[in-house]
Amino acid sequence: MDDPLKQSFLKEIDNIVSFQDLINLKAKYVGKKGLLTEKIKNLGRLSSEERKIQGKALNELKNFIEEKIKNKEIELKQKEISESLKKEIIDITLPGKDYYFGGCHPVNKTLYEIIDIFREIGFTVEEGPEVELDYYNFEALNIPKNHPARDMQDTFYVSEDIVLRTHTSPVQVRVMEKKKPPLRFISPGKVYRCDSDITHTPMFHQVEGLMVDENIAFSHLKGVLVFFLQRLFGENIPVRFRPSFFPFTEPSTEIDIGCIICGAKGCRVCKGTGWLEVLGAGMVHPNVFKFAGYPEGKFTGFAFGMGVERLTMLKYGIDDIRLFFENDIRFLRQF
Ligand code: PHE
Repeated sequence: MDDPLKQSFLKEIDNIVSFQDLINLKAKYVGKKGLLTEKIKNLGRLSSEERKIQGKALNELKNFIEEKIKNKEIELKQKEISESLKKEIIDITLPGKDYYFGGCHPVNKTLYEIIDIFREIGFTVEEGPEVELDYYNFEALNIPKNHPARDMQDTFYVSEDIVLRTHTSPVQVRVMEKKKPPLRFISPGKVYRCDSDITHTPMFHQVEGLMVDENIAFSHLKGVLVFFLQRLFGENIPVRFRPSFFPFTEPSTEIDIGCIICGAKGCRVCKGTGWLEVLGAGMVHPNVFKFAGYPEGKFTGFAFGMGVERLTMLKYGIDDIRLFFENDIRFLRQF
């Protein structure tokens, strides 16, 4: 049937590219007021003979149009799917999202390194309280009330008898009260001093060490601490022992290493001396053994203490201690 309606429909449907256009086309031809619908409605005006012929033809055309529209709809749907597949393609070779893992704080990194080195030579780890009795922090360490040595440390007092410990040395006495020699331990932990500038914070970390037995000599002190410093800073690190004073050791020494910032040439960090102080140490004072309840004259030993922040600053060339506690992620990520 060469109907002009069919011809125009075929022409129009060929140009359809969207669902909306298809819906409009469907309405235009076979909708309630569609061109074909109108023709079908008008069949009633024809003679019965004509109506029969025309009716059949129009019905066939209606079926034809509806079929074409259905096929077009399927075609459009398929096109939509294949286009979205093309657009939403997943490239499994692209790198994944970056996730940042938490890291070990540089102070803890140094702390674990220190513990590992001493563990290697048989030292165990002991702990003591940060809120400490004046007795353990001072008295039992041969620093009586009104002793000028108390001025060496700016103490936070909780009450007359209770302080925030100013060093880890009180752990020496606490452990000796409980255990008999041979003793060989370190004691890491937080300490507190009323002090704040680019090299001091009110809280910082120390590692204490104590070795006590019969016949422990200064040579043992020297051997252990040189071994430790060579492990931490490398075989070739220069080490120097200077006479010093601590009320709880006699003789006492402070230990320097050659400045690792300038290679011992002299710089701002070593104040031009080429040396950096890293440890306080000495032979345990007989009065400390007395306070611990050890029999007089039976044991000897050595003790030492170091600041973990200071060692970390030297190791990594950090010039402001406050960086450790600001928790700036850009600083911490570097370790
Ligand atoms: N406690 C001392 C300080 O904080 C360090 C030290 C420990 C010195 C043990 C000698 C022996 O400075």
